[in-house]
Amino acid sequence: MAQNDWAQEIGRRRTFAIIAHPDAGKTTLTEKLLLYGGAIHMAGAVKARKAARHAVSDWMEIEKQRGISVTSSVMAFDYAGCRINILDTPGHQDFSEDTYRTLVAADAAVMLIDGAHGVEEQTIKLFHVCRMQGIPVFTFVNKMDRASKPPLELMEEIESVLGIRTYPVNWPIGTDGDLQGIYHRFDGEIELYQSGGDHGALQAKARRIKLDEADGALDSHYLDRLREDIELLDLAGDEWNVEAVSNGELSPMFFGSAMNNFGVQAFLELFLQLAPPPAPREDVSGPVQPTQPFSGFIFKIQAKMNPAHRDRIAFMRICSGRFEKGMEARSHLGGKPIRLAQPQQFMADSREMIEEAYAGDIIGLFDPGLFHLGETLSQSGKICYEGIPLFAPEYFARVSAMDSMKRKAFSRGMTELAEEGAVQLFRPPDSGREEWIAGVVGMLQLDVLKYRLQGEYGVEARMESMPVHYARWIVSGKADRLPSDASRAFDGQGRAVLLFEHEWSIRRAMEYNPGLELTDIAPRERV
Ligand code: G4P
Repeated sequence: MAQNDWAQEIGRRRTFAIIAHPDAGKTTLTEKLLLYGGAIHMAGAVKARKAARHAVSDWMEIEKQRGISVTSSVMAFDYAGCRINILDTPGHQDFSEDTYRTLVAADAAVMLIDGAHGVEEQTIKLFHVCRMQGIPVFTFVNKMDRASKPPLELMEEIESVLGIRTYPVNWPIGTDGDLQGIYHRFDGEIELYQSGGDHGALQAKARRIKLDEADGALDSHYLDRLREDIELLDLAGDEWNVEAVSNGELSPMFFGSAMNNFGVQAFLELFLQLAPPPAPREDVSGPVQPTQPFSGFIFKIQAKMNPAHRDRIAFMRICSGRFEKGMEARSHLGGKPIRLAQPQQFMADSREMIEEAYAGDIIGLFDPGLFHLGETLSQSGKICYEGIPLFAPEYFARVSAMDSMKRKAFSRGMTELAEEGAVQLFRPPDSGREEWIAGVVGMLQLDVLKYRLQGEYGVEARMESMPVHYARWIVSGKADRLPSDASRAFDGQGRAVLLFEHEWSIRRAMEYNPGLELTDIAPRERV
């Protein structure tokens, strides 16, 4: 295939993640999007998958037991001429670093907010990672069929809590469980609200009328209020600015109801127009254009997706060019060319072998233990993308083997699982090899660690949770004097870290040590 045909294929890719606090409706929205793409044929399919995962999925054993998603996956489908890749992120409260890492592979994010709850804790954490990536963030305010906070208050909340301005692309008519429709600001049309019946399974094209012709269709008090609101937004709100959207400074804001499939199609269509196709990515020597020959990086390694084999799947984000099944690529770490065998892509409820893929796509590669997190693969072997950042863990535990005879297997298990990114390892200064501190972003990762040490390495582990909730890497300066609740450690790469029990003592440490600079995201190390 000629290179300009690649360009066309790459230009139609849209790769994004949906970020949300649990229960905001991510599963429901994802399902509606898949329904438009024809990737599923029945509303309820993804929800059913969420509820009965243990019955249909061959993913990790622990996932079966807890019925929740420990890992993130990706779903691909076509709609309106675009190839859409949705990166799924664990919805459970005990989410892990996988969620953060997944965002490194996304070109845009959809921030889903429950209209009644506004910006919630996990929305904030995930938003900050998107901001660090500099990707555009689109806001979808969900559950507008129910009582919700006033839309203007939601705009203010997003701005004050997240520090991003919003541009409402549509505006709800009738709030607090009295939804009448939404007004589309770009074309001046009203989409009248229809409840979606059985979870919005019907995809009836919504009825639209011009605002000027809406007098008979809606009571005048709704229309008066709408005109007032729009005037206010036009006068006092931000101006539409595509560049600010691309830079992640302005978030296009949509209102709707995922469950009722209301406002979802209009959102999807506009999102596909506004969201960026794969952009050039920075390598050590400058930007790599998406149309250059094949390259990609590993952002996630998933162990034992098939319990029958001790296999791993390495998830690769393709950053440039065309990938072909069985092609050979070179790692930036050197070594022999690697045949990229058994490439797979993931749909709503299955995974399938693929023949080819393009920049923007996410593929899973069979991994007999070859790949590393953050590793770049390319045709030349000369490209090296930035590594995957390490995010400060929030839960810490001292981990040791119950049976001291199993020290060797324990040490191998801990090292391998840390390499795979399942946990972060720390070590107090002057400690022997037996003393490990495991740091995680979500508590569930500790359960996964214990479970996998037992299942894959035959080691029963003892875990003692530590009263530590904050880790900060030292960027510059010295930490000569520490508050009483702080301690020192080194991360897996030997970098100095301070561990704190309380947030305020981070500030105290900086007051005690002028010139001390700390960060909660470890600088990206190239593996
Ligand atoms: P999550 O993946 O973000 O955790 O959320 P999920 O989609 O599972 O949705 C959480 C709950 O919110 C579900 O209710 C879902 O039906 C409901 N929901 C999602 N979108 C809307 C919406 O637009 N309007 C309203 N009113 N509710 C919505 P549930 O009671 O947990 O499940 P179910 O009884 O619907 O199966």
